Amino acid sequence: MSAELWPVTEEFAAEIGDVDLSEPLDDADWRLIEDAYNRYSVLVFPDQRLDHGDHAKFAARFGPVARTIDVDWEDVELRLPPDISDVSNLGPDGRVMAPGDRKLEILSGNRLWHTDSSFLTTPANASLLYMPAIPPVGGFTEFADMRAAWDSLDEELKAKVEGRIAMHSIATSRRKMGVELTEAELGVFRAAPQAMVRTHRASGRKSLYIAAHVGDIVGMDRTEAERLLETLMAHATQRQFVYAHRWRPYDLVVWDNKCTLHRGRPFDEGRWPRDAQRATVDDVGPTCEQEGLAYPAEAAQ
Ligand SMILES: [Fe+2]
Repeated sequence: MSAELWPVTEEFAAEIGDVDLSEPLDDADWRLIEDAYNRYSVLVFPDQRLDHGDHAKFAARFGPVARTIDVDWEDVELRLPPDISDVSNLGPDGRVMAPGDRKLEILSGNRLWHTDSSFLTTPANASLLYMPAIPPVGGFTEFADMRAAWDSLDEELKAKVEGRIAMHSIATSRRKMGVELTEAELGVFRAAPQAMVRTHRASGRKSLYIAAHVGDIVGMDRTEAERLLETLMAHATQRQFVYAHRWRPYDLVVWDNKCTLHRGRPFDEGRWPRDAQRATVDDVGPTCEQEGLAYPAEAAQ
């Protein structure tokens, strides 16, 4: 057996089939997957039957697997092991959470365009989202291509953001959804400095690195920062940069957070289970370090 790749779009999303990710991968299959990851950003593996161990083991091929941030919230009972983030609408008992559940409110921030864990100094590299159960309608995930967005940004804006640092905080994205985090919920998650333009290691291409988590931009007043972020978001999420994934049960979708944005689309979350289970792989280090940017000490947490 050897894995087969079928592009979904020319250079952003691809499907990979004829590979069973619950089994050890041979070198040729892994090479195909790794090359595809570096070229395409979003990889869809249909019809995978994975237990949590298989899921985490495949994630580990991409780098160190992070612990879910849920272990840092107080009084949270976990449905999944700590190396799998529960981004479903299910409670610890496996049932659909009641409307108004605090965890659902906090997860509502995932409806905004973001890149995973950019509120941590070392953010996520790959995310691997496995979906054993889906709603019959709605609940798509959209992905936007930040390499293409950078390539087509006008020169004046490129000059404005290149070398800049933005502060990313989970409190900022939640506030945009009308959810105020308490001090206890915010816990260790203060704002993290991130380079606004990154160089993608494997392809050498540049990408825009922004998210709904961004509040301040270092060296810019708040109003100007907000306006700039709005302009960049509007540009980066135009339809020609977006792939909308309509889930099938047992899809595993892998994406490269270094050069994509994504958002979950609405569905009737009080009615249908959407069993979204995510393994998250840490990047190699802080983005400012990777880009050789020094950030002011007061910005560091
Ligand atoms: Fe996410």
